[in-house]
Amino acid sequence: MRKKIIAANWKMHMTQSESEAFLTTFLREIEDNDTVEVVIVPPFTSIPKVSELLTQTQNIKVGAQNMYWERSGAFTGEISPAMLRELFVRYVVLGHSERRAIFGETDEIVNRKVHAAYEEVLRPIVCVGETLGQREKGDVEKVLSTQLRGSLANVGAKELHETVIAYEPVWAIGTGKTASAAEAQKAHAFIRKTLAELTDEATADKVRIQYGGSVKPDNAHELLTQPDIDGALVGGASLDPRSFAQIVKAGAPNG
Ligand code: 13P
Repeated sequence: MRKKIIAANWKMHMTQSESEAFLTTFLREIEDNDTVEVVIVPPFTSIPKVSELLTQTQNIKVGAQNMYWERSGAFTGEISPAMLRELFVRYVVLGHSERRAIFGETDEIVNRKVHAAYEEVLRPIVCVGETLGQREKGDVEKVLSTQLRGSLANVGAKELHETVIAYEPVWAIGTGKTASAAEAQKAHAFIRKTLAELTDEATADKVRIQYGGSVKPDNAHELLTQPDIDGALVGGASLDPRSFAQIVKAGAPNG
């Protein structure tokens, strides 16, 4: 049984004080239970505050939105895996479509970061997904296969087990358009098949695959009950503590 993993990608939102206000409400709404794993992914500057406020919780972890692959050095403006680790960060989102489109990240760059994450015992959340043009051309599987094979090059079964994949169709991000549950399930099943080709079926069966792209309280249940959808990576709706709490509750076995 794969435990659902629901993550709040705050993107470039939430100062430290806003993060504190969010958590005060969110922790009241949600009980720290062990049926769903929750990850809060703040901007770097709010990570220390969020980590401090979550020290007592078991199933709410802290993630980062990006990092560089080197341990230290003359890389102005970058943050290293070791720096994140010291702030009790457990997960790191890598290859988000905004990083790929706005900051020019390639599969090769994502792959370097993925390996750097394992070295520092951080669990990568590797994002893949097609644009609208690629979907209309019938290229969804080709794009997903290329991104997975490139981003996960030389990743073994043991490491893949520690990895989360996020399927985020670019056309569904921040647009209010969601992939239908059937479309999302189809892509997730294809991703799992590709992971099995990269390692083996038993490993692929254990990897959690999140859906991301306009997940809201009213569509979360349908998406999260698909057989290969093991969680959600939530942008806009994760900025409101009550909405995000509702999405987390939709991920519980009886949600
Ligand atoms: P939205 O939920 O705002 O569509 O963003 C999805 C996303 O990019 C999460 O990483």
